[in-house]
Amino acid sequence: MAVFGYLWFPLVLCTVVFFFLIRATRRRRLRLPPGNLGLPFIGETLQLISAYKSENPEPFIDERVNRFGPIFTTHVFGEPTVFSADPETNRFILQNEGKLFECSYPASLSNLLGRHSLLLMKGNLHKRMHSLTMSFANSSIIKDHLLVDIDRLIRLNLDSWTGRVLLMEEAKKITFELTVKQLMSFDPCEWTESLRKEYVLVIEGFFTVALPIFSATYRRAIKARTKVAEALTLIVRQRRKESEAGERKKDMLGALLAGDDGFSDEQIVDFLLALLVAGYETTSTIMTLAVKFLTETPLALAQIKEEHDQIRAKKSEMEPLEWTDYKSMPFSQCVVNETLRVANIIGGIFRRSMTDINIKGYTIPKGWKVFASFRAVHLDHDHFKDARSFNPWRWQDNSGATSPGNVFTPFGGGPRLCPGYELARVELSVFLHHLVTRLSWVPAEEDKLVFFPTTRTQKRYPINVQRRNVSKLCKD
Ligand code: HEM
Ligand SMILES: *[C@@H]1O[C@H](CO)[C@@H](O)[C@H](O)[C@H]1NC(C)=O
Ligand SMILES: *[C@@H]1O[C@H](CO)[C@@H](O)[C@H](O)[C@H]1NC(C)=O
Ligand SMILES: *[C@@H]1O[C@H](CO)[C@@H](O)[C@H](O)[C@H]1NC(C)=O
Repeated sequence: MAVFGYLWFPLVLCTVVFFFLIRATRRRRLRLPPGNLGLPFIGETLQLISAYKSENPEPFIDERVNRFGPIFTTHVFGEPTVFSADPETNRFILQNEGKLFECSYPASLSNLLGRHSLLLMKGNLHKRMHSLTMSFANSSIIKDHLLVDIDRLIRLNLDSWTGRVLLMEEAKKITFELTVKQLMSFDPCEWTESLRKEYVLVIEGFFTVALPIFSATYRRAIKARTKVAEALTLIVRQRRKESEAGERKKDMLGALLAGDDGFSDEQIVDFLLALLVAGYETTSTIMTLAVKFLTETPLALAQIKEEHDQIRAKKSEMEPLEWTDYKSMPFSQCVVNETLRVANIIGGIFRRSMTDINIKGYTIPKGWKVFASFRAVHLDHDHFKDARSFNPWRWQDNSGATSPGNVFTPFGGGPRLCPGYELARVELSVFLHHLVTRLSWVPAEEDKLVFFPTTRTQKRYPINVQRRNVSKLCKD
């Protein structure tokens, strides 16, 4: 054994030297963006993870932008990766989706999502399905069909709150109920609640996709996914029968069944599941963090209350919000944007280069990973004055940004622009309306923002709520 041990050592040494040599020559030839690839294999992954365990929102990127500039090379999660904290480069990456860049996810993720998820589709099929999804949640559909239920379900949920409430948990429940209603017209009931329990297990699996082999959580998530898919398949079959008999519901499932694409049950189920996933953590996080930021900024809270009390004053207690009401909450829209900017639920997006790409004097080699960081841009003092503080008033004079061009991209852009961008804004606005008019609250415990593996608060933001006498606000 000992002999083998000695043989091993020079071999490893040679490999390491060889690795660095190849890297050095390749880099000279291609002029990679500057940066540090760290150790072989693990690269700078550990630095990345430990950086995001701190309270600083952007420690890993900040340090490297300072040393190398806004485009730099690193090596994380097993691959060399080019990071961009530059708005122009980010836009270039987003716009060239499908031409120079494509999205790429590990297989463990597609097992959870299903092969026919919009997030994993490419080419023409993606184009078709993306536009179908966009038209399912566009502003005229929200105005004419979705808003009524958004208003009703949020109000019902808030009216059941008493005493101590874990805001993030409640926001997730609301978001799930809304999505199930929008996708397949189900009102909350025992069936939706039991679906949600399984669904939560699926979501937990997403945070283990980097190391799924070792993870019991991942295996449990795959099992739960099968159950959720079975439940959805039953619904799809039922609705297919109804639709062949000429019944047509105005929901996403109705649109999928009515189209002349002839989707299979499996395709439809994967598609519905992906929509449930995409809106769930994101929308509930933005609801929770908006409340946290408002609570910590009393002037903003007072101003948003004033805005919504005025809307209520023109309505009776149970009268739902309408589109014109949504359109007359200018300060709330500032709060929505500022929450999206500071919280940055989707910190950025990963892509893979499909060919050698020249950008800003550098070359990104074919097949490399690229990360366009939205968060780094949103928190950059060059683009937003005093960028790291919550200041909704910055949006009152137009764009919020201090630099020209589109530097605010919380929903991405290009061919993969988030189809839920308007829906998420409406849901958050309606939630804030009912929250501030029906309840007052104080934080039940101190709770901190954390940024890894997702943006959230450590303790799911517990608050103590008290009912306001909303009928006093309203017209009789
Ligand atoms: C605050 C809430 C939300 C944020 C911040 C957000 C953000 C994003 C971002 C940045 C992307 C682009 C991903 C990429 O380019 O790879 C995206 C994609 C997507 N979002 Fe959202 N989203 C939110 C809510 C929603 C909601 C409510 C839905 C439900 C309709 C939704 C459905 C989707 C889907 C299906 C995609 C994939 C689009 C594609 O790959 O073509 N999102 N979202
Ligand atoms: C929204 O989508 C519907 C189809 O679902 C379409 O008829 C309508 O023109 C779209 N509206 C807007 C504002 O894009
Ligand atoms: C919020 O941001 C969007 C871009 O995502 C922009 O179109 C809109 O004007 C902004 N709203 C306000 C009130 O500044
Ligand atoms: C709320 O206000 C209305 C009208 O001012 C009053 O009649 C009612 O008793 C109040 N309700 C509660 C629970 O205080």
